[in-house]
Amino acid sequence: MKKYSTLGEFIINNQKHFKGSSGELSRLLNAIRLAAKVVNHQVNRAGLVDILGNAGEVNIQGEEQQKLDVYANEIFMHTLINREIVCGIASEEEDDFVAIKGNNGKNDNKYILLMDPLDGSSNVDVNVSVGTIFSVYERITPEGQPVTKDDFLQKGNKQVAAGYVVYGTSTMIVYTTGNGVNGFTLNPAIGTFYLSHPNMNFPKKGNIYSINEANYIHFPQGVKDYLKYIQKQVEKGHKYTSRYIGSLVSDYHRNMIKGGIYIYPQSTNNPKGKLRLLYECNPMAFLAEQSNGMATDGYQRIMDIKPTELHQRVPFFCGSKNMMTKAAEFMSNYAGDAMY
Ligand code: AHG
Ligand code: MN
Ligand code: MN
Repeated sequence: MKKYSTLGEFIINNQKHFKGSSGELSRLLNAIRLAAKVVNHQVNRAGLVDILGNAGEVNIQGEEQQKLDVYANEIFMHTLINREIVCGIASEEEDDFVAIKGNNGKNDNKYILLMDPLDGSSNVDVNVSVGTIFSVYERITPEGQPVTKDDFLQKGNKQVAAGYVVYGTSTMIVYTTGNGVNGFTLNPAIGTFYLSHPNMNFPKKGNIYSINEANYIHFPQGVKDYLKYIQKQVEKGHKYTSRYIGSLVSDYHRNMIKGGIYIYPQSTNNPKGKLRLLYECNPMAFLAEQSNGMATDGYQRIMDIKPTELHQRVPFFCGSKNMMTKAAEFMSNYAGDAMY
């Protein structure tokens, strides 16, 4: 039988690649691993416990919170706060960032974490894959002081680590610390993640496109032209297929394995797009680039965008190089009348 290393072993073995590492990032990744197992347990029995449906509240972005959104947010917040592993957290489900004081009123940790605790939450009620997305930065304000908004509004290219958990037919953690992307599958019988997907790689050529085509009429002309181009290619006998789950983590995960493009563009009804730069796009962009894929807003690299707000939205194009290059070609024809 093949010997797999566990996520715990992998984290420790990789710690030595970081010069002067104090083990702080390893502890943070271990806390994420623990929170993921707790959320996984609840997601798995969602139909049996009173956790389906919405929680009766809307988040700061005006979206209905599902009960599992609230639950996953609490688990990740509590796990990280109780262990005093980071000095600040920003979450899609919180109005503002949270500064973590620490037990003696002073917090000497150097990392901050941003997260989408439950991605694709509208899929929970129908038993379809959901996820958690996280992104880690070193703080820029001095250690020991309370964190400020500037710590969170860093460009994506400053990320130290990023990843996601996909609660799918099996549960996986996929992450990068800037040295490639590795995927770990949970063995639920013993509660251990094993390295099942070492060095994940976005195929250079993809043939899957993932977009909510119901919004076609509202899309920018560049995206409409790209979709038309794909249809023409199919007419000529080229193989393309459309797959859209409506959960970024799951759509991304499939495309990274099989090759494809995910697009959530700006549109006349969502002029800035829908996905959040800090909680969704930056971490996925880091993973994409670390696995030889690409991520842009249709024109520029996602990780070069300077964030101005915590809950900022951006158009998101992410995937295999050949498809991304073609989509960019069509978008550039209309660069002048970009909708944002
Ligand atoms: P969230 O559940 O965190 O709000 O994210 C949902 C996002 C993303 O995961 C998904 O790809 C997209 O919204 C789906 O949007 P549409 O339903 O508009 O296609
Ligand atoms: Mn999301
Ligand atoms: Mn969410």
